[in-house]
Amino acid sequence: MRAYDIIKKKRDGLALSDEEIRAFIEGYVSGEIADYQAAALCMAIYFRGMDVRETTALTLAVRDSGDRLDFSRIHGIRVDKHSTGGVGDKTSLVVTPIVASLGVKVAKMSGRGLGHTGGTIDKLEAIPGFCTSLSTEDFERIVNEVGIAIVGQSRNLAPADKKLYALRDVTATVDSMPLIASSIMGKKLAADDDCIVLDVKTGSGSFMKTLEDSKKLAQLMVDIGKRAGKKMLSLITDMDRPLGYAIGNTLEVIEAIDVLCGRGPEDLTDICIALASDMLALTGEHGDRDACEVKVRDAIASGRALDTLARMVKAQGGDDTVIYHPEAFARATHEYTVKAPCDGYIVAVDTEGYGITSLLLGAGRNTMEDKIDYTAGIMLRAKTGDFVRAGDPIATLCTCDESRFAVAEQRLLASTVIGDEKPEERPLIFARVE
Ligand code: URA
Repeated sequence: MRAYDIIKKKRDGLALSDEEIRAFIEGYVSGEIADYQAAALCMAIYFRGMDVRETTALTLAVRDSGDRLDFSRIHGIRVDKHSTGGVGDKTSLVVTPIVASLGVKVAKMSGRGLGHTGGTIDKLEAIPGFCTSLSTEDFERIVNEVGIAIVGQSRNLAPADKKLYALRDVTATVDSMPLIASSIMGKKLAADDDCIVLDVKTGSGSFMKTLEDSKKLAQLMVDIGKRAGKKMLSLITDMDRPLGYAIGNTLEVIEAIDVLCGRGPEDLTDICIALASDMLALTGEHGDRDACEVKVRDAIASGRALDTLARMVKAQGGDDTVIYHPEAFARATHEYTVKAPCDGYIVAVDTEGYGITSLLLGAGRNTMEDKIDYTAGIMLRAKTGDFVRAGDPIATLCTCDESRFAVAEQRLLASTVIGDEKPEERPLIFARVE
């Protein structure tokens, strides 16, 4: 089976057999198939798509490309949550300590930023000293003692996804339904969780721009997970505007801490409460959804969830004082205020454009080798639906490299639509796929 023939078959719009998919993934992981051939196949999949059978075969090939984790030494029910990626989406940093503080185990593998979206691992690495790579023994010990540990995708967990993820990030092949579904579910099935809550984003800042595509993606992933014996649930949530006000690693960690202190922005807090309540309810051990929501709100109000985050940070080598004193985080050396060019309502924003603005400030990568400026990003000063006068601040740009401001400001302004009509409110949660 030649890689060339498999690429050509997909390029011509034909369905690949399970054997062809598995052979390609195995060849890519072993190094027989080159990055440029995998990039070509990703592009062919991007344009030609895959049916459910092919997507399932790709998911299983990704899962089987490395070790399957065994969490049997972790005591208690294990729950995970995964987002399809958004701008300002720091929900994992909030919901995982909440549910862990309530007795559910979170043994989480997370990813780095992808395309215009941020990643939990990059955000956690903004915490001084935080180590995202642990031995299996330390990982299990911390989950058992603290209730939660979060690490990067280990070398042996779904290595096919690790290679493909980095490749897709720099070849404009992220926003493809079969590639997203197989990437997320390949990793999730290689881990050993009992319950998985998916947060499928929809709108201009997500990889799925329409509600219809988001629903299809959610259903596809829920079905794949259920077939593999997991308890699954997916929320479809709005990503037509950034979540909260902070975009960029350090800024987002600080905003996540704000939510855990009960002073976070309303949209972010509401989504986090919904996700955490669903995670808890899915375990079947904490009462119905309403009872779970009461527990989740109490975990925030009592400070238990914040304490759990601090304990995890400390256990993973990080400086836990910043969790209680976020003002101690290193901040960008330069700030620049973007002002509204005219009076009016912020009618809409191109959320992907905001994500790219944050990358342009240094918060993400353009090539696989790029280093991140953790302090870089955007603090929004006005959001969709707000009225602004000409000259009012709409965003503060933050970076350690002031030469980045001009192009970032241009991108942000080009991504902001100001007009006379107040836009209709959109729901935060569109649907629940069970
Ligand atoms: N998150 C993932 O893990 N993979 C994707 O492809 C997109 C979001």
